[in-house]
Amino acid sequence: MDKFIIVGGNKLEGEIEVESAKNAYLPILSACLLCEEEVVLKKCPMFEDIKNMCDILTSLGVKVERFEDELHINAKCANNFFISQNLSKKLRSSIFTLGSLLGRFKQAKVAYPGGCEIGLRPIDLHLKGLRALGVKIKEFHGYISCDGSGLCGADIYLDFPSVGATENLIMAAVLAKGVTTIFNPAKEPEIEDLQNFLNKMGAKVCGAGTNSIKIVGVKKLYGCTHTPIPDRIIAGTYLIACAMCGGKMLIKNTISNHFSILINKLQNSGCKIKQFNDKIYIESTKRPKSINFVKTMPYPGFPTDLQSQILCMQTISKGYSQIQENLFETRFKFVPELLKMGANITIKNQIAYVLGVKKLFGAEVYAKDLRGGVALVLAGLCAEGYTTVCDVYHIDRGYENLEKKLSLLGANIKRERELK
Ligand code: UD1
Repeated sequence: MDKFIIVGGNKLEGEIEVESAKNAYLPILSACLLCEEEVVLKKCPMFEDIKNMCDILTSLGVKVERFEDELHINAKCANNFFISQNLSKKLRSSIFTLGSLLGRFKQAKVAYPGGCEIGLRPIDLHLKGLRALGVKIKEFHGYISCDGSGLCGADIYLDFPSVGATENLIMAAVLAKGVTTIFNPAKEPEIEDLQNFLNKMGAKVCGAGTNSIKIVGVKKLYGCTHTPIPDRIIAGTYLIACAMCGGKMLIKNTISNHFSILINKLQNSGCKIKQFNDKIYIESTKRPKSINFVKTMPYPGFPTDLQSQILCMQTISKGYSQIQENLFETRFKFVPELLKMGANITIKNQIAYVLGVKKLFGAEVYAKDLRGGVALVLAGLCAEGYTTVCDVYHIDRGYENLEKKLSLLGANIKRERELK
C-alpha cells in the first residue's frame, strides 16, 4: 500500500483549485440510472470512490466513458438491478443505488453495505422511507431485496436528517406515480445539487435545503449536462492546512456559504480570511488560538467530515478545546496516531479533550479512514522531522493527487508506491 513521506515545517503558499464534490458526484452518478439518454458530467475528479461507483454502473449495463475530465453516461442499455457483495464492499455508497434502481426497474437487489471504518452506519431510515413509498423489502443472507411494483408517492417523516436516506428517497420518488413529501430531510448542499441535476433531466423536485422536499413524479427523464458543486470538505481541508502550517493561499472553485461555520472558527483562531464569489483567500501568520468547542451536526452545523482536520489543528493551537462527534461513533480512530506525534488528547463519551502543544513530532502513522487519514497528513506537514503516513488508499478515496497539489503549495511530501 502506498505511503506519504512528509518532511514537516514548510509554510504553504500559492493558489489551488478545488475538485467537484465527491458527495455530490456519487448520488448524481447513481441518478444517471433513471434516464435512458446520455448525461454529461463535467469536472469529474479521479477519486477512488468515483471510479468504484462507475464500476458499479458498468456492472449494471450502463455505458460510462471518460473524455479528459468529462464523464459521458448512457443508461439506455442498463439491464441489471443486482449489486453483489464484492462491488458493494468497495464502496459503501453503493446503497445510494437502491432508490435509482427502484425508480428505473421497480426492483433492486443490493448487498447490505454493513459497517465501515467510521461506524455502524445503519440503513433503517432508507428502508423505512422506501416502505412508506410502497416498496416491499426482504432482507436475507446479506442482501436487501426490493419489490417496487407498488411504488407510489407518499408523505415520509425522517426520524433523523440522513443524507443518504434523503437522496435515495428522492431518487425512488422522481419516477413514481403521485406526490412525495419528505419531512425533516437532510439539508446538505449536495442534496440541492442532486435536486438541480434531476430537474435539469425533467424531474419535478423542490425544497432541497429547507424543512421539506416535494417530488412530483414524472413519466420520463431526459439527458442533460451538469457540473457538480465544488467539494466543501476539500476546501475546508486546505484552509485548515494553511491555518496550521502558516502562509497564504488562494483557494479557487469554492462556494464559501457552504462552509461558513468553518470560516468563522478559523477567523476566531486568528486567521485572516477574504471571501470572493467563487474563491477564498486565507492568511495565517501566527500559532492559531484554540477554538474552545466544536460539535458535529447535520448541515448547516459543523460537518463531521471536517472533524478530524479541525481536531488535528487543535493539537498545535494555543489553549484547550473540546471536539464532540455526534454522527459517527468511531471517528476518533486517528487520535492514537496523533498521540504518537506528541499530541495531548483524551477521549471520553464521544468528546475529544485537546490541550494544544507547541510542536508535533514526525512519526510513522496509519490512515484508518478518509478524513482521519488526511488529518494525519496535515499533522505531518507542520510537525518537526519526518512523518510517514501509511495506507493512503483511504485518502485516495476522496482526494486527487493530494501530494502533488500540496507540493505545489510548498509542502515537502512525496508518495512512495508499493511495488506490486
Ligand atoms: C453522508 C456522506 C458522509 C458524511 C455524512 C454525514 C456521502 C457519500 N457521504 O453519509 O461523507 O459524513 O453524510 O454528513 O454523501 N443513520 C441511521 N440510519 C440510517 C441512515 C443514517 O441511523 O438509515 C445515522 C448514521 O448512523 C449517522 C447519521 O444518521 O449517525 C448520519 O448519517 P447519514 O447522513 O445517512 O450519512 P451518509 O449518507 O451515510
